[in-house]
Amino acid sequence: MDTNVRSAGERRAQLQLDAASIGIDEAFISLMVDEFYTRVRENPLIGPIFDDAIGDNWTAHLAKMKLFWASVALNAGLYSGKPMDAHRRLEGVQPWHFNIWLALFRATLDDIAPTPAVKLYFVERAERIAQSLQLGMFGVPGIARKKDG
Ligand code: HEM
Repeated sequence: MDTNVRSAGERRAQLQLDAASIGIDEAFISLMVDEFYTRVRENPLIGPIFDDAIGDNWTAHLAKMKLFWASVALNAGLYSGKPMDAHRRLEGVQPWHFNIWLALFRATLDDIAPTPAVKLYFVERAERIAQSLQLGMFGVPGIARKKDG
């Protein structure tokens, strides 16, 4: 039987090779994050939510988001935040805000992704994470979300 045992380091290296083979690396992630949040901040519907929460800390936020995406896409393991807690703290976010977030994310990748495969790689991951954030924030439609404490 092929037990296919690989160390975490080997799995990480393989993921990075796979990502690099379709054109994803830290330089692209950095460009993607900068470009996406420029659009987010310019958007009249979701820009103010970000600016209210982030204020003068955009440099730190962008750096954190680059580590986050490097962890998601390259398994870089450099991000150790708690996205669910961060989003559940936000006031006034509605499910439809996620549609705008995802539309801006897709449009960013339409414009800058070197290939359709790169766009798909990020969009699939963003959609999955957006789904799970929404479940944590708003619950399953029709089923009341258990209140904390
Ligand atoms: C309507 C949708 C969204 C809104 C309004 C939103 C807003 C925000 C804001 C304001 C912060 C900063 C929180 C703070 O510093 O206190 C934040 C952090 C973050 N967001 Fe979002 N977000 C949205 C969707 C997403 C999605 C879809 C993802 C992932 C694909 C994501 C990933 C993150 C991460 C990783 C952080 C950093 C959390 C930490 O502090 O470790 N967000 N978001």
